[in-house]
Amino acid sequence: MSTLRLEDLKQYSDTLRTRHGEALRVRFVEPRDTEELQHYFRSLSTRSRYNRFFGAISELPQGLLHEFLQIGERERFTVVATMMVDGFETIVAEARYALHAETATLEFGLSVADRWQGHGIATVLMKNLECRAAALGADHMFGDTLRSNAAMISVARKSDFAFVNHPDDWKLVRFDKEISVAPKDIPCASWRLVALSRQADSPSASA
Ligand SMILES: CC(C)(COP(=O)(O)OP(=O)(O)OC[C@H]1O[C@@H](n2cnc3c(N)ncnc32)[C@H](O)[C@@H]1OP(=O)(O)O)[C@@H](O)C(=O)NCCC(=O)NCCS
Repeated sequence: MSTLRLEDLKQYSDTLRTRHGEALRVRFVEPRDTEELQHYFRSLSTRSRYNRFFGAISELPQGLLHEFLQIGERERFTVVATMMVDGFETIVAEARYALHAETATLEFGLSVADRWQGHGIATVLMKNLECRAAALGADHMFGDTLRSNAAMISVARKSDFAFVNHPDDWKLVRFDKEISVAPKDIPCASWRLVALSRQADSPSASA
């Protein structure tokens, strides 16, 4: 379903803006990010990590860290959002998404560094994920969150997601959004190109 050129991941980098106009670069995670990604998760507050992973962990277990770094394997992807802080490119948010081709859905989870929460980063990152979902041919995107996670529920509501019960776990709620944008109207340039090339490769993909 996807037509990403995995050998040239750098071309899929987007620049977003926080609410106050700071530049935010969103790109696929790279092997050189391994240490910094782990540092990012360790630096999250206990509560943010709990909300992200639905359990108490102090860092990413090695197996999961390895999975986070395998871009495109089993249609799973990790992106980091970085900002220049004191002259260094610093991870301020991350998102992981998986394309379920059989149901044409994109599942995602994300987090924002505590220091940068409340700056509109989750909102713009989710908009960017929407572009990626559309480019990959998904009809819906969804995520799961703890019912107690007021911040995530509020972001999802403001971003026009609908809420449904989680099929297996009463502690979770699922937020879901229909993706109904035509390839030529995708509002992220790089993902519009991916969508248009998918459409050219397989004209029925636009239906
Ligand atoms: C949930 C989370 C991703 C939100 O990220 P964020 O960048 O702070 O969100 P935004 O700044 O885009 O917030 C957008 C809106 O969500 C709501 N919101 C955000 N944080 C909130 C909070 N702590 N309490 C209540 N509402 C909140 C607000 O309505 C906000 O709009 P406003 O600032 O105009 O009032 C962030 O708090 C986080 O990383 N939490 C830990 C990990 C997590 O919970 N992940 C979700 C599970 S997948």
